[in-house]
Amino acid sequence: MEENTTAIETKMIPIYVMGKRYMVPEGLTIMKALEYAGYQYIRGCGCRGGICGACGTIYRKPGDYKIYSALACQTAAEPNMVLTQLPFYPANHVPSNYAELTGVPEDIYKLYPELFRCVACNACSKICPMDVPVMDVISLLKQGNIEKAAHEAFDCIQCGLCASRCFAEMPQYHIMQLARRLYGGKIAPKAQHNAEAAKAVREGKFDSMLKELMAMSIDELKTVYTGREIEPETAGDDWKPTETRWLLPEFQR
Ligand code: FES
Repeated sequence: MEENTTAIETKMIPIYVMGKRYMVPEGLTIMKALEYAGYQYIRGCGCRGGICGACGTIYRKPGDYKIYSALACQTAAEPNMVLTQLPFYPANHVPSNYAELTGVPEDIYKLYPELFRCVACNACSKICPMDVPVMDVISLLKQGNIEKAAHEAFDCIQCGLCASRCFAEMPQYHIMQLARRLYGGKIAPKAQHNAEAAKAVREGKFDSMLKELMAMSIDELKTVYTGREIEPETAGDDWKPTETRWLLPEFQR
């Protein structure tokens, strides 16, 4: 009988990393293409899932004047792209005592007065691989609107590419992070159910459950964990687990 030996051929494409040409299989992410080319990540790679911001990359395409940005772990390598990773870009982070901040715009102005050097060129927004409207966020902060700025900046993953393009030499990603922290900790209304849950923990409501868990072997814990009841994705607001012993009183009704 004739053996079926049809091999699937992998198409190879050229990419240029810091000026050097490599042939890599088509379809790889930039990160995997770099690894295929022999680079070993010690820094410049974290989550591999588009969350940590460690793999900021800039590149150009032949015959195209534009500079492009990407996350190396999320973007496919393209033929003839000329790239380099910028996993870190120096930007001043001003230490502050968060407890002393009150959630007013002046908190930000005192720590990052360079915010007012913004010339509204929008280069920061254009390079952002997460499509955060960085310039608009800075503008909102200049207007004192921390809440809206925090919402607009929600997708920032701190890759720092914005700072690499800034005429005003400001660290937008640190400023946006401060805005989110101020909004989350000092401005947004407190979640009452969280406060009640924390109170219940402090009052010992879960002590016996914890004792029970701590007395279990690893295998028993695995069984309990894998057998746990999970809220279905389609559950409505009135969904409750079968075991209601550990719910706060208001949720037991
Ligand atoms: S490795 Fe974390 S965002 Fe790419």
